[in-house]
Amino acid sequence: MTAPLQIAPAHGTLGVLLVGMGAVSTTTIAGVCAIRKGLAPPIGSLTQMGTIRLGRRTEARIPRIKDFVPLADLNDLVFGGWDIFDADCYAAARTAGVLEPSQLEAVRSELEAIRPMPAVFDQRYVRRLDGPNVKMGKNKRDLAEQVVADIRAFKERHGCDRLVMVWCGSTEVYMTPTAAHATIASFEKALEESDESIASSMVYAYAAIREGIPFANAAPNLTADIPALLQLAARTGSPLAGNDMKTGQTLIKTIIAPGLKARLLGVRGWYSTNILGNRDGEVLDDPESFKTKEESKKSALDYIFQPQLYPELYKDLCHVVRINYYPPRGDNKEGWDNIDLVGWLGYPMQLKINFLCRDSILAAPIVLDSALFLDLARRAGMSGIQEWLSFYFKAPMHAPEVYPEHDLFIQLMKLKNTLRYMRGEQLITHLGREYYD
Ligand SMILES: NC(=O)c1ccc[n+]([C@@H]2O[C@H](COP(=O)([O-])OP(=O)(O)OC[C@H]3O[C@@H](n4cnc5c(N)ncnc54)[C@H](O)[C@@H]3O)[C@@H](O)[C@H]2O)c1
Repeated sequence: MTAPLQIAPAHGTLGVLLVGMGAVSTTTIAGVCAIRKGLAPPIGSLTQMGTIRLGRRTEARIPRIKDFVPLADLNDLVFGGWDIFDADCYAAARTAGVLEPSQLEAVRSELEAIRPMPAVFDQRYVRRLDGPNVKMGKNKRDLAEQVVADIRAFKERHGCDRLVMVWCGSTEVYMTPTAAHATIASFEKALEESDESIASSMVYAYAAIREGIPFANAAPNLTADIPALLQLAARTGSPLAGNDMKTGQTLIKTIIAPGLKARLLGVRGWYSTNILGNRDGEVLDDPESFKTKEESKKSALDYIFQPQLYPELYKDLCHVVRINYYPPRGDNKEGWDNIDLVGWLGYPMQLKINFLCRDSILAAPIVLDSALFLDLARRAGMSGIQEWLSFYFKAPMHAPEVYPEHDLFIQLMKLKNTLRYMRGEQLITHLGREYYD
């Protein structure tokens, strides 16, 4: 056992700043408001409903996670954010069409009070969108300073003790790290020169991290995961998490694939296709935004199956991912997976999965949990990449010398062991010999 970490108490107000007030953000905010009023249960949220086993199984110590670590109370959260459309959160939630109008009506006044601040936006990075609520600036540095000013004004206005920021904006076009992303100095020079390798999402991330605010990326775009912002986070103490929330098909993939691998069943092909009709689907209809998503979605299977260790089972796996924009479905995505398996003596089998899910209903608890856990990390003095939050993400951030952990069950163990470590409790290895000695 190690000594517990010193964790500052979660007193006072936590400001949750969401970039992009679309389906995910509005469903998160409306959900928290409804839960606070006792109108709905926080299903899907580990911070609100999860438990954690401590010590030996015979001790029967299984507190709720929120009673074990000091998390901000939902009543102490205040939400704000930015969007290129100036509709208030109630109107935006109506447009998103995720929650029933009667449910939104019950929290209408809270939602109407949240108006998005003008966004840092450039259509070069999200080609299918355009909107009026956009900042003007001399260069990207100036825009970053405006975001810093927004953050400080929000904090002041709402009397926040602490803040967190989550990028819930649209998926930006595919980008790879460049020399401009290499150091804080090169990044700041690139901001000054409005270099095109600085996407809008990076401007927000820079502003948050410079202010020492925890930052999570709920989308797959290249944002905080660049050396310059990692260095900045180390300097300011900002904890980071991302990328791309693990919600529909990838969630199922990372539940099923570890099971197949555990039983050493081969997989020759995994074909995944989706229909989706919300604004996210519309943005992903642009091949450049889809490429960002595709890269994020495709990596999980390779890391779980480890074809380099099991070439007979997984070497030639054909993995195809498609997303089709189909407006009639709105936020109610439908995903189909066809998995071509190989069993004993090489006999083929098939597994079909048809998941009728609700995208933002699966995403909202992740936004909430990431915000609360990042705030906890900040108070515990943990900065930089928070690998224990991989559990929530399709393309988890990780140190350059290790591969990302995609197996949902290992991710959960890592998360819970991190909480035990924070509190100085024994880590659970599941060895269990002590019960039989
Ligand atoms: N299950 C899920 O819903 C899920 C899962 C994983 C990732 N994501 C990602 O989360 C993000 C949000 O998803 P959504 O369904 O809410 O999409 P959405 O289109 O409903 O909302 C995104 C919002 O971001 C705004 N926006 C775009 N660029 C902006 C900028 N530079 N500044 C401020 N606002 C900006 C848009 O105007 C829009 O209102 C997407 O990138 C999506 O790919 C969603």
